[in-house]
Amino acid sequence: MNKKVFVTHQLPGDRIHELSRFCDVNVWMGPGLISAANLREELSGCDGLVCMLTDRIDRDLVAALPELTFVSSMSVGVDHVDVAALSARGMPLGHTPGVLVETTADTAFALMLAAARRVVEADQFVRRGNWTPENAWAPDFFTGKDVSGGTLGIVGLGEIGQAVARRAAGFGMEVLAWNRTRREVPGIESVSLDELLLRSDFVSLHVALTDDTRGLLDAERIALMKPGAVLVNTARGGIVDEEALASALASGRLSAAGIDVFEQEPVAADNPLLSLPNVVVAPHIGSATFITRAKMADLAVDNAIAALKGQEMPHCVNPEVYS
Ligand code: GLV
Ligand code: GLV
Repeated sequence: MNKKVFVTHQLPGDRIHELSRFCDVNVWMGPGLISAANLREELSGCDGLVCMLTDRIDRDLVAALPELTFVSSMSVGVDHVDVAALSARGMPLGHTPGVLVETTADTAFALMLAAARRVVEADQFVRRGNWTPENAWAPDFFTGKDVSGGTLGIVGLGEIGQAVARRAAGFGMEVLAWNRTRREVPGIESVSLDELLLRSDFVSLHVALTDDTRGLLDAERIALMKPGAVLVNTARGGIVDEEALASALASGRLSAAGIDVFEQEPVAADNPLLSLPNVVVAPHIGSATFITRAKMADLAVDNAIAALKGQEMPHCVNPEVYS
């Protein structure tokens, strides 16, 4: 009997046809994201799952699926998956590192520039017809903060953090970084997290969301940030205390923020960050280019095919299941 794999979203590219040479493939066609109830139902009897970061793969779901042998997520982050529950069953979890590094670093820089130079606020000002002779160019009109020559603090010096640092070098920035396990990279000064927050004009987050990093930027650490600093988050919302960040931005202690990820997604309309003019927001689009999303889909399918062939996934989060 053919193995069965469930895919929770239609994928870009055509690698999915490759997958169907190795198993029966069933793809959720929407509309919209699959609900937890539908996911459980569709997965019943499946050998494998290709999921998105919007699917919650928790302990209960895994326990309800005795036939399941692997999970492949089309994402680099895997905080939506209970990795320990999979490992306990000897089940590999695939993800898609590498291919989204430059694209996500571009997004971080886009948000940093937009937040510092008030690009979105300025766009709205013009479109709303507020640009009138009485309210026009003046020495202090829409003044913001220089990115060029500033000090950038990178929290999490993995591949994405290093790609952001390369861009910062082109902007003549001084680059500081903190990484949980100290990492030496030429041109980047390795410092403690507290020192990074004290010294940086811009702070960009590039750590994975884990038990160790949840709430890493809490009220106390936000209070350490340099007055007038700008925070950029393209990693995960749960790393930051959103309420504390919103108060620091509302009081002017921090000058701006660029936020692509939220603790709860889609973000609630009453999230305090959304009412602040000095916050630029985006709906979790860090890796959203045609080419990168196609590469991520290809990697997710490659991981699934390897699992179906009884081989090690090329990009496995928990390779200890193979030993
Ligand atoms: C995006 O946030 C990802 O984890 O791929
Ligand atoms: C995180 O995914 C990183 O590579 O920095």
